[in-house]
Amino acid sequence: MKKLAKRNDDYMKLQTIILAAGQGTRMRSSMPKVLHKIGGKALLAHVYDLAMQLADNSVNIIYGHGGEQVLATLAGINALWTEQKQQLGTGHAVMQVADWIEDASTVLILYGDVPLLRLETVTKLTGFADQKNMGLLTVNLDDPTGYGRIVRDEGGKVLAIVEEKDANPQQRSIHESNTGILAVNGGLLKSWLNRLDNQNAQGEYYLTDVIGLAVSDGIHVHTVQPIDDSEVMGINNRLQLAQLERVYQMRIANKLMENGVTLFDPARFDLRGEILSHGQDIEIDVNVVLLGKIKLGNRVKIGPNVFIKDSEIKDDSEIFANSVIENAVIGSDCRVGPFARVRPDSHIGNHVHIGNFVEIKKSNIGEGTKINHLSYVGDAKVGVGVNLGAGTITCNYDGVNKHMTVIEDGAFIGSDTQLVAPVKVGKNATIGAGSTITKDAPEGELTVSRPKQVTIPGWQRPVKQKV
Ligand code: UD1
Ligand code: CA
Repeated sequence: MKKLAKRNDDYMKLQTIILAAGQGTRMRSSMPKVLHKIGGKALLAHVYDLAMQLADNSVNIIYGHGGEQVLATLAGINALWTEQKQQLGTGHAVMQVADWIEDASTVLILYGDVPLLRLETVTKLTGFADQKNMGLLTVNLDDPTGYGRIVRDEGGKVLAIVEEKDANPQQRSIHESNTGILAVNGGLLKSWLNRLDNQNAQGEYYLTDVIGLAVSDGIHVHTVQPIDDSEVMGINNRLQLAQLERVYQMRIANKLMENGVTLFDPARFDLRGEILSHGQDIEIDVNVVLLGKIKLGNRVKIGPNVFIKDSEIKDDSEIFANSVIENAVIGSDCRVGPFARVRPDSHIGNHVHIGNFVEIKKSNIGEGTKINHLSYVGDAKVGVGVNLGAGTITCNYDGVNKHMTVIEDGAFIGSDTQLVAPVKVGKNATIGAGSTITKDAPEGELTVSRPKQVTIPGWQRPVKQKV
């Protein structure tokens, strides 16, 4: 992982704690909440990836409900995992890693179900943490129901956070709300964790109580606000999941447009994965879904309702409506679709035309080749400048094994031909329409396997018998 953000303070080591032990009952799911996805990526992975963009950081994830599933799904990541067996509150969650927290470090608290926080916001927050100051992320909400409220004195100085269930009516009328995200010196945090109790309305150890303790120790609590509310929105149910999905997609869409990609309707664009690289003057029509890792060259055009997964499309190629491309490379200046399907391990050369109702699987298609209508090409190596007529089919499967079809450069395959693999069609060979080719067709010759056409003179249609 690249460390993008250099922190400009005196380079305090960072320790990030991600709280992810909560159950997420309202998702009504057999899967732990933090494994639900936005943009094709688990909520917790979004938070982890953000943390990993901060320099000199180590991450500790507090897990609980569905722990095995969370660990199995995110096994590869470079984080420590700490189990919180019983969820006795956010303060209790942080207590689980008290021994890990170093006195001299800056501790950043993030939530596993708040996936869209921005790096700028977090770096602002960590910038405040030292021996005398800490940073707290707050947000002004029209409807702060359920959130802890930020209590300030007349001078505007933060005094405490009061949870809604413990708040008096006057405190409940406060709109400034606690996001839960904060940055604080490690030694100070540990001293306050020791002093937390659960004497409150919910009988929980509240992490929010550290704010009052900080104030009584003379520590200044600086507040930071997010650029927009979506950054601090947590996910508790599938409605919120869908809402944040759209926010996330709009952020990606905006970035693509800023970088020279035309989106016909940014509200109908979905990337569930990553665009590893893209050129300029790309046009993407509505309802395109991009999955996994994608590369798009310059001036690529993608028509409506196209699905592309883990593929590369090179310069000047056009994918027409309703096509599906998976794990393939499409060369430059190609035309694919409408209604084409390019399946995994296919490599399409430059200037190739793949038309409607054509399926390509695990095949190499040479430069300038045309497969324009109703064909199946599987396990094939097709040369340069080949023409496959409508309805050409590679019979690649004998019921047990798959076999290769080789079609050499310049071959012309007449319509409705079956090529029974393993079989080879030589260079510049021609196959007559309607042939079933079971033996290799020699180079440069016409091969045809259909019976000769006959006409029976004077033949009469049968007539209906009278009863
Ligand atoms: C908490 C804050 C509240 C804030 C709100 C923002 C406290 C006491 N209150 O409320 O001020 O406005 O977040 O959403 O901190 N978690 C654990 N272990 C636990 C409890 C929670 O890991 O024992 C995790 C949850 O998985 C979740 C996060 O901590 O990711 C917050 O827990 P949640 O119960 O949603 O927060 P609230 O108590 O509602
Ligand atoms: Ca709670």
